[in-house]
Amino acid sequence: MRSQFSGTLIALLEEHAVDELPISIRIQNAIRRQLGNGSLKAFDRLPSTRLLAKELAVARETVEFAYQHLEAEGYLIRERGSGTFVSETGAQLAIFQASPGRKLRNLHLSDRGKKIQRAGGVQDPLPLPFSAAFPDVRSFPIRLWQQTASRISRRLGSNALAYCDPQGFYHLREEIARYLGAHRGVSCDADNIVVLTSSQEALLLIATMMLDAGDAVAVEDPCYPGIRSALTVSGAVPVPIDVDDNGMVVETLLRRTPAPRGAYVTPSHQYPTTATLSLERRLALIEWAKVHRSFIIEDDYDSEYRYDGAPISCIQGLDTSGNVLYVGTFTKTLFPGVRLAYLVAPYHLVPAFVGMRTLVDGHSAVFNQAVLAEFMATGEFTAHIRRMRQLFKARRDAFVESAERHLAPFGALRVPAGGFQATWYLHDGHLEDEVRRRAEQERIILPSLGNLFIKRRNAPGFVLGFGGLTPQECDAAVKRLARIIKNVRPK
Ligand SMILES: Cc1ncc(COP(=O)(O)O)c(C=O)c1O
Repeated sequence: MRSQFSGTLIALLEEHAVDELPISIRIQNAIRRQLGNGSLKAFDRLPSTRLLAKELAVARETVEFAYQHLEAEGYLIRERGSGTFVSETGAQLAIFQASPGRKLRNLHLSDRGKKIQRAGGVQDPLPLPFSAAFPDVRSFPIRLWQQTASRISRRLGSNALAYCDPQGFYHLREEIARYLGAHRGVSCDADNIVVLTSSQEALLLIATMMLDAGDAVAVEDPCYPGIRSALTVSGAVPVPIDVDDNGMVVETLLRRTPAPRGAYVTPSHQYPTTATLSLERRLALIEWAKVHRSFIIEDDYDSEYRYDGAPISCIQGLDTSGNVLYVGTFTKTLFPGVRLAYLVAPYHLVPAFVGMRTLVDGHSAVFNQAVLAEFMATGEFTAHIRRMRQLFKARRDAFVESAERHLAPFGALRVPAGGFQATWYLHDGHLEDEVRRRAEQERIILPSLGNLFIKRRNAPGFVLGFGGLTPQECDAAVKRLARIIKNVRPK
């Protein structure tokens, strides 16, 4: 220990020889560095001042001064007759200072915290083929947005810098109400809309405010992982209900006793199968909620992008009992970074939701809200959606054509009536993991369909997002995927 200590110390002193500091301070710093990198540990013994002074070829008082200082700071303990030792707190402090916080693992999560950690966060999609649920940020009219932003900046001046109503910027709520009434058949006005940062925030607020530990909530199976995590972390229990070509099999839910406290649906395009919930099932769900005084969470996340057939009225607009919590987002209709979404709630619940929201993040950025309000008021928002609907429909068609040409031998594609992703079921399920692994090496993301099921079941396949890819990029990625599968497939 002694000679190794001196050797390391000398090396450190040489390394920092350019420091224009007195030698006793350089000795202190070198010892602190050794403590910081863990080469000196708690209770390690240091050489005596006489010995170290000799090895370093310095005066004994110089080492004495350095030791005294480190002792005064609590790094060292000196005991007459026994020697000089590293103190326990000194060792920890030095490690902390060298790499603040990284190596200390004293604190532990609460049981709730551990549950949240286990539930996992929601992973944002990457801008790579075939990331699911990723819109096309490259086609966003950014110049128009910038012009709107500078007009709003001039108009609002320093008003945009203050706090705003936690329920949301009033003009934006008015515009959202106008839009939802005209285009989605939602029955609302500025007073029962809460502007939020994301639909994920809406799901978490609903789970927090509407559910107690142990409450059951029916969810589509397979389902959007964000609702599963939100329910789990709030202590509620997701109850899986199968999905078929007409969306959630509501008949199964009706038979369940006791009735769950709530039901979560993505009726426009079920995530991830893209099935549309039929009108009969919507009406049955509404009746179920009325009879059992349960609530319905209607997540209408990308309803704007429907390509085939007429859109069906949203559940919230059909319901006359006030049992629906309607959630929508601008993540898909504008761009993910805008961080704006909304919750339409029964009027009497709005203050409670707003109160909870103030505990989470106060409110969404005033400036973005004001720019979006203007973007909507000038008709740019609906014009953008019309353009994007055409663009995504063309991309959907190009994707389907390419997939049917190159991927048909390996799996079955479900052609989506809307949205930016399709489900694709592998014929040979054994290949799933290896195909995903090899694809990842080629920067192709293949989200697993099986992971989205609650009941374990054999559903090998992927959710393939095509919204962010031009037809050329999409065709190239489909061909690469076909090549990967061919190489993985047993000959
Ligand atoms: C069903 C569903 N709900 C909500 C969201 C998330 O939207 P946001 O980014 O607003 O949280 C997504 C995103 O893919 C989704 O697929």
